[in-house]
Amino acid sequence: MLEDLSQHVLDIAENSTSAGATEVAIEINEDETLNILSMIVEDNGRGMSPDFLEHAADPFTTTRTTRRVGMGLPFLKQSAELCGGQLILRSKLGEGTHTEAVFDYDSIDRPPLGDIPATVMALFMGHPEIDWKYIHRVNGREFSISTVELMEALDDRELLRQTEVGLWIRDRVKESIDEMRLR
Ligand SMILES: Nc1ncnc2c1ncn2[C@@H]1O[C@H](COP(=O)(O)OP(=O)(O)OP(=O)(O)O)[C@@H](O)[C@H]1O
Ligand SMILES: [Mg+2]
Repeated sequence: MLEDLSQHVLDIAENSTSAGATEVAIEINEDETLNILSMIVEDNGRGMSPDFLEHAADPFTTTRTTRRVGMGLPFLKQSAELCGGQLILRSKLGEGTHTEAVFDYDSIDRPPLGDIPATVMALFMGHPEIDWKYIHRVNGREFSISTVELMEALDDRELLRQTEVGLWIRDRVKESIDEMRLR
C-alpha cells in the first residue's frame, strides 16, 4: 500500500467524479515551517449522509456496484495517521464533500508527491466536463491552474481531450512547481 500522494489525489478526485461533481478543487499545501503537507479535494457532488460519513473511511465501505472495493479513503487515512496526521472528512448531502489529508512534512513514512503534473493532466483530460481547479502552495508561494481559465483560450471543452493540450497542461504544472521550489 505504498502509494504516492499523486495516486491518492487520483483516487480521491475519482470519488468526486463518481459523486456527480461538476466542480472539483484540488489543493496541495507544503509548509516546512509548520511541518505540514496537506492535500484537499473539495467537490460539489452528491455528498454523504451523516450516518454514511461516519463509516466512509472504514475499509470496504462503498457504494460501488462493479468492483467491490472501497479502499480509497481507508488507505489515505492510514497513510496520514502513520505520518502523525489525520484524515478530515466533511460532507453534506446534496452539497458536496471536503476530503483533507494532513501529514507531518518530515515524517519518514510520508508518501512522496509522485507525478503530480501527470495526475493533473489525466484528470483534466479524462473529465473535460468538470470545472477543475488545481492549487499548489510551497512555503507561501502559490501556483494554480483551472479549466475555467484554460477555456478562455480554448473556447471548446472537448479540446481538453487533445494530447497536445494535455501535455501542455502537464508541462505548465511541472515548470510552475519546479519554479516554486527553486525560489
Ligand atoms: N467525494 C465524495 N462524494 C460522495 N461520496 C463519497 C465521496 N468520497 C467517498 N464517497 C463515498 O464513500 C465510499 C467509500 O469511498 P472510497 O474511496 O473509500 O471507496 P470507493 O470509491 O467506493 O472504492 P475505491 O476507491 O476502492 O475504488 C464511496 O463508495 C462513496 O459512497
Ligand atoms: Mg474511491
